[in-house]
Amino acid sequence: PEPGWSTRSDVVIIGSGIAGLTAALLLKDHVDKVLVVTKDVLAAGSTQWAQGGIAAALGPGDTPEEHEVDTLVAGAGACDPDAVRILVNEGPEAVRELIALGTNFDHDADGVISLTREGGHHRDRIAHAGGDATGAEIQRALIEAVAAAPEIEVVQHALAVDLLLAEDGGVAGVTLHVMGEGQRDGVGAVHCRAVVLASGGLGQVFSQTTNPSVSTGDGMALALRAGATLRDLEFVQFHPTVMYLGPESHGQQPLISEAVRGEGAFLVDFEGNRLMKGVHPLEDLAPRDVVAKAIMRRMLDTDQPHMWLDATHLGEVGEGGAASGAGTSSFWEKRFPTILATARSHGVDPVTQLIPVAPACHYASGGVRTDLQGRSDVPGLYATGEVASSGVHGANRLASNSLLEGLVFSRRIAAVLPAELRPWSAPVEDQRPEDLVSGDVRAELQEVMTSRVGVLRHATGLSDATALLDKLAGTPAELVDVQSWETTNLLTIGAALAAAATLREETRGSHWREDFPERDDATWAGHFDAVMVDGST
Ligand code: SIN
Repeated sequence: PEPGWSTRSDVVIIGSGIAGLTAALLLKDHVDKVLVVTKDVLAAGSTQWAQGGIAAALGPGDTPEEHEVDTLVAGAGACDPDAVRILVNEGPEAVRELIALGTNFDHDADGVISLTREGGHHRDRIAHAGGDATGAEIQRALIEAVAAAPEIEVVQHALAVDLLLAEDGGVAGVTLHVMGEGQRDGVGAVHCRAVVLASGGLGQVFSQTTNPSVSTGDGMALALRAGATLRDLEFVQFHPTVMYLGPESHGQQPLISEAVRGEGAFLVDFEGNRLMKGVHPLEDLAPRDVVAKAIMRRMLDTDQPHMWLDATHLGEVGEGGAASGAGTSSFWEKRFPTILATARSHGVDPVTQLIPVAPACHYASGGVRTDLQGRSDVPGLYATGEVASSGVHGANRLASNSLLEGLVFSRRIAAVLPAELRPWSAPVEDQRPEDLVSGDVRAELQEVMTSRVGVLRHATGLSDATALLDKLAGTPAELVDVQSWETTNLLTIGAALAAAATLREETRGSHWREDFPERDDATWAGHFDAVMVDGST
């Protein structure tokens, strides 16, 4: 449909997690108008769900250089070293700014910030809040700051459909599908001079994910249609310890934070054998891909749908060596209140029982390729946070580097964007797909992505998946609605991901090819850029 309404704003920010709201707050005093659009309510994205925390070299003895080494090792030779250096060096200051904004991180009785450890880190460097509710606290502080900034306009329940491009191929605006905002209901156009994509990831491409329902790859699909380069899409991180709720459970699944292993929990199989002994020197705190693969291998070898996390001893020894809660919930209530309540709501008491866990899709390490200031290939289009591929994550993101990436690169975008605002230009092109795909195919699409393009990949499965996705693309939508737009985006990104996974004939980080089980540095060292302007490589 033709836009039914139009408005103007210097900058449009798509997404309202840590990346989007940080960009909005930093830009508001430097451009005439900032409009934040978000598909649901402000707090509906992935930031809200982050448990473990945010990594930065804040502790005594820790250094950005050590954080850099851990990030590069986890990234398995596919990180951009310059981007990583920026992340770790600017990280501590960025976190301090977040604290100054009003984020209450956990601290000890002397007011010193509490830091924990997660997989792949050699030091305690994860700041957390509310025990395991870090993302929710950050999101709260950011929303409060945005609410106090009248310069920032917020439109909720607005799906960004596509970019409007000017004659030179740069940004001229964005079309939105707004659900129930009165005057701005339906499809409309915002003319603008820059767009900051901060729309998060693609977890809903798979049947089971830790991501909320809004994570349907919209930003990546929109960027791809506008001619931006997507990079490293095949590097989808599967979190090792997602609570297993049975084969029929689809969509967002409960995360059991790596910080639970950071506090001493360990993985066991059905016989009670420790899974990570002898697999990696860091054992249960090995990088995420190593742990996910070990779980998956044992699941396949023993024909079981999940493994177990034993956290029943947590809190056994308290400060000063005194027993402080073994077999009771006191430690859990303080340190992991969210996980405790969630597990109990699913009938498992982690204080006394093993938690069933299996890997599930958690994070897109790749995305819209950006330079070190967050610029994509499309003039006027910037990307930050999970939607972006800044180069910091390589083949496998280090735990708790994701909130940090959004924070650091949004600051970098805000530092350059005001001076780079494009002239107002008339839109000549609209990339909205003419043939939307029916929302009815979503479950089939997710199932084939999980079984063929999931943790374990093989050329035959990848080619089966590609053929099925191609077929599903021919199922027309009866209605032009958010369901069909989302499904079209899921299909675009699913196909691009399958194509990238097919191309990379090696095993590296979170990309695991059964038919190419070795890492092949001679061919694949560094990045390869999958340019998929029309959904084909
Ligand atoms: C977790 O708490 O295990 C997740 C942290 C992350 O994904 O970085």
